[in-house]
Amino acid sequence: MTTAEAQLAQEPGVDTAAVLNTYRRHVGRGRARLAAMTGAVVEVASFGAHVWDATGRQYLDCGGYGVFLLGHAHPDVTDAVIHQIRRHPMATRLLLEPTMATAAAALAEVTPDGLDYVHFVNSGAEATETAIKLARAHGKRVLVSASGGYHGKTTGALALTAKPVFQDPFRPLLESIHVPYGDADALAAVLADHPGQACVVVEPVQGEGGVIVPPAGYLPMVQQLCHAHGAMFVLDEIQTGLGRLGSWWGADAERLRPDVLLVGKNLSGGVIPVAAAVATAQAYAPFDSDPFLHTSTFAGAPVAMAAATATVRVIARDGLVARAAELGTRIRGMLDDTLAELRGEVVTDIRGRGLLLGIELANEALAGQLMLHLLEAGVVVNHSLNAHRVVRLTPPAVMTDRDLDELHHALTAAARQLTRHVPAHGKAADRA
Ligand SMILES: Cc1ncc(COP(=O)(O)O)c(C=O)c1O
Repeated sequence: MTTAEAQLAQEPGVDTAAVLNTYRRHVGRGRARLAAMTGAVVEVASFGAHVWDATGRQYLDCGGYGVFLLGHAHPDVTDAVIHQIRRHPMATRLLLEPTMATAAAALAEVTPDGLDYVHFVNSGAEATETAIKLARAHGKRVLVSASGGYHGKTTGALALTAKPVFQDPFRPLLESIHVPYGDADALAAVLADHPGQACVVVEPVQGEGGVIVPPAGYLPMVQQLCHAHGAMFVLDEIQTGLGRLGSWWGADAERLRPDVLLVGKNLSGGVIPVAAAVATAQAYAPFDSDPFLHTSTFAGAPVAMAAATATVRVIARDGLVARAAELGTRIRGMLDDTLAELRGEVVTDIRGRGLLLGIELANEALAGQLMLHLLEAGVVVNHSLNAHRVVRLTPPAVMTDRDLDELHHALTAAARQLTRHVPAHGKAADRA
């Protein structure tokens, strides 16, 4: 344990029961019930690949819903943010302000060629909203997304997040059509029916959809079809971008150049919420000519810009994209080994790319059990909002060999526990 880690672990405790009770009374009983089911662990501190709970117990964070590629509280990002807080945390918005210029240039520098214009926002869903509004400003009102896709839950973005349980209570939503992910023919048919009117939004790998990697050639075909039918092509890299897949962008692997690229999660450096829509000059034209067409008070605040710039620089300087690819291969091998005995009727698939990895279980109950056993063994992972049978790992690219050992131990222990839950493997499917 480093000195910083030791200090964090020794922070004065928090009353877990009181936190749970306050959640119950002021945050929501559903949220409190969920917390109670997962042992009511209260997180109070974080650094690097680890978080600490109120009792001082350390957990390896392979969750965080894809935010922590740089781990928690990366020193360079934290320093940049603290410096900015002391100097000029929020802007008047009337005057020019240099941190936004620097962050926009830093992001444009690493996005695919031709994506030069950056509109900063505060969350992933707002980045999606930005793309929807750009599309509508261009007269493209028919939203097309893929089943299982996840693009946020604000009412605009929700039209694209193709899951009835999230959409139904809020209908009517914006007009949208959902096509099967990976099926270029289905997309071609929809676009042919709406020439010049569509905006297509897809992820390079579906994250919340359960780590679905599309067939090779699918994404270039989506791009080609958008060009052929005059549709706007929006690539949602909120979860996959900035190195998560072992390349700067999912777009890189297939040399894509979308009209709009959505960025979020990792852009925060795990320190300050920030997201962005990065567009070509042509796609951005409506905002280029009218800066008040789409605005938000806190968007592009200097404190967030400091985090975004520092994050992009750290990823480039420390070679975290290559490191994500290398760690991804090693962790994938570890999953294959430790879960080998459960493959078949308990673990039905292991898949992913880079540091976005999914373990698909035979049913939702088993997925819940695996998450709990990993937590008991000291590892935090994600569930998948649109695929409850898939446990998702989004580990940081700053993991050390010691952290990998920790993960190996926890996976081994969790696999052993899971085997106990399934006395006869053949019965696993019956428990669905
Ligand atoms: C691909 C993708 N798009 C959009 C979002 C929405 O981002 P946020 O939760 O920051 O609104 C998410 C969140 O998980 C995501 O994974």
